[in-house]
Amino acid sequence: MQKHVKRGLWNHLMKDGIEMGLASIIYEVGVASKYVNHAMRTGDLGLAGTSNLYGEDQLALDVLADEIIKDRLDHTGRVRRIISEEQSEIIIFDREKRSGGYAVCYDPLDGSSLVDVNLSVGTIVAIYAGEDPLQDGSRQVGALYVLYGPRTTLVYSAGHGVHEFTLNSLGEYVLTRENIRLKESGRIFSPGGLRADYLPEHEKLVSHLEDNGYKLRYSGGFVPDINQILLKGGGLFMYPATTKAASGKLRLPFELNPMAYLMEAAGGAASDGEKPILELKCHDLDQRSPIYIGSREEVALAEKILSRK
Ligand code: AHG
Ligand code: MN
Ligand code: MN
Repeated sequence: MQKHVKRGLWNHLMKDGIEMGLASIIYEVGVASKYVNHAMRTGDLGLAGTSNLYGEDQLALDVLADEIIKDRLDHTGRVRRIISEEQSEIIIFDREKRSGGYAVCYDPLDGSSLVDVNLSVGTIVAIYAGEDPLQDGSRQVGALYVLYGPRTTLVYSAGHGVHEFTLNSLGEYVLTRENIRLKESGRIFSPGGLRADYLPEHEKLVSHLEDNGYKLRYSGGFVPDINQILLKGGGLFMYPATTKAASGKLRLPFELNPMAYLMEAAGGAASDGEKPILELKCHDLDQRSPIYIGSREEVALAEKILSRK
């Protein structure tokens, strides 16, 4: 029987030697994701206690997911401050007097507009030691995402490799991939944005990838698109600066920093087109940046072509 028992999330976090508070944050995001998953797939608001998910006076799924995750993070007793894509300012839990603890940045539901057309969406979380959630990405102590797709999967790293868990029919997250590693180079690319808005150097990079046989894979959901590159072993996801938005679209604290942490932990790279995402000074909740993330070779290629302005 033993050989069939897969490793559960808490068991893995403990074996990974992760500090108890950090482990409980990752675990509680997993708990929250089960309620989000349920609400999304059944139209039932679950925890919110109301029934109709899309009525005018009901919580939108973004807001519901935000409420659920915030409550579970508070429940850990180890989170001091949070910022969420759905909140306009830093939320302070009443633990200021305590030392230690963690700050958490999260996008409760990324790509939520895709739910209506039954495409995959995700939750993205970055974790820092201390109380400040607006730290540079290089100071993360852990990051994870949950992907609500045909399967519901959770991918985390806390400094000892990147690991995937799949939600089973009993509501347990069981280990399905351990120590995920990217190859040096991949064969898929996600261009991002609208071609009509591309700057010349991004246009050149996209044409180069197409001319060299890279396959275009772009769902419009950051989490599934990144997950595909991570699990297919490589490739390049881009969301560029455009003529309409010089800083691109994706947000540094909630979306780019956590994915850059995970991709680097799996042997990949993440750049703003010139320098590593994790080295960007983070000073604003709504800070955006262009992103080129995936296999080392493709990110280096992107930086080379983009520098030939
Ligand atoms: P959010 O739903 O949190 O606003 O994020 C959506 C993002 C991201 O998921 C995706 O990579 C990007 O929007 C797609 O943007 P376009 O629709 O402009 O391609
Ligand atoms: Mn988002
Ligand atoms: Mn969102």
